[in-house]
Amino acid sequence: MRVIIKPDSEQCSQWAADYVAYKINRFHPAPNRPFVLGLPTGSTPLGMYRNLIEQYKAGKISFENVVTFNMDEYIGLPPEHPQSYHYFMKENFFKHINIKPQNIHMLNGMTRDYEKECTDYENAIKKCGGVNLFIGGIGTDGHIAFNEPGSSLSSRTRIKTLRYDTIKSNSRFFDNDLNRVPKTTLTVGVGTITDAEEVMIIATGSNKAEAIRQGVEGAVTHMWPISILQMHQHSIIVCDEEAASSLRAETVKYFKEIENRTLDFPL
Ligand code: GLP
Repeated sequence: MRVIIKPDSEQCSQWAADYVAYKINRFHPAPNRPFVLGLPTGSTPLGMYRNLIEQYKAGKISFENVVTFNMDEYIGLPPEHPQSYHYFMKENFFKHINIKPQNIHMLNGMTRDYEKECTDYENAIKKCGGVNLFIGGIGTDGHIAFNEPGSSLSSRTRIKTLRYDTIKSNSRFFDNDLNRVPKTTLTVGVGTITDAEEVMIIATGSNKAEAIRQGVEGAVTHMWPISILQMHQHSIIVCDEEAASSLRAETVKYFKEIENRTLDFPL
């Protein structure tokens, strides 16, 4: 696991965007060999998306041969609902870049056949040859996508019921009205995420500190789904000083010292 600790959230976003651009450019994607990205929503990745849009506008990166799979979607919110993840992705990223609409994959929270929707999603990922880089945020309880504590660490795309804490936390996007937050979601599984060649989780702010501590220093356990990254061959956590603030001083020193001597973007 690489743990990149940056002074603030802005520098985390910058590093994450630069890394995504580097991975895509180095891959030289083509129509018959697209780069496959797994994408998150939430407030954390917003800075990375803004940064990637700037890089696209500056001609530093193209999404023409990039295929995307989003992590999750609320059940019962139509794509035009401002709090749906479809809407979020369109407004904050897709409409600003040159991605082809047919290359965008998102779970349909309005489907009547959840099982088929989830199986089809898994098959679509397989058909593309798997995800090259899965990017995620993290919940304060260590959830990734909507895989709440107790989720099987080998779970696949499925329906999930949200726990009270997540509903409460996400109610900030619904005028703080808990009743308006959907209670169920469709989400890729922990296993779907860790099947990716590489996984990059971004965490900022002190409310993520305990989850980062558990994920980096704790034992691998389904009660902290983030901890599964310890079993992944290529996982990266990009966090700011606040999110790293519950790590032991030696842990921080170790990862910073290693990173000082690691080339971020080797040729
Ligand atoms: C939701 C999403 C997660 C996201 C989390 C944290 O629960 N399903 O994918 O990581 O929120 O969001 P934020 O980045 O706003 O803290």
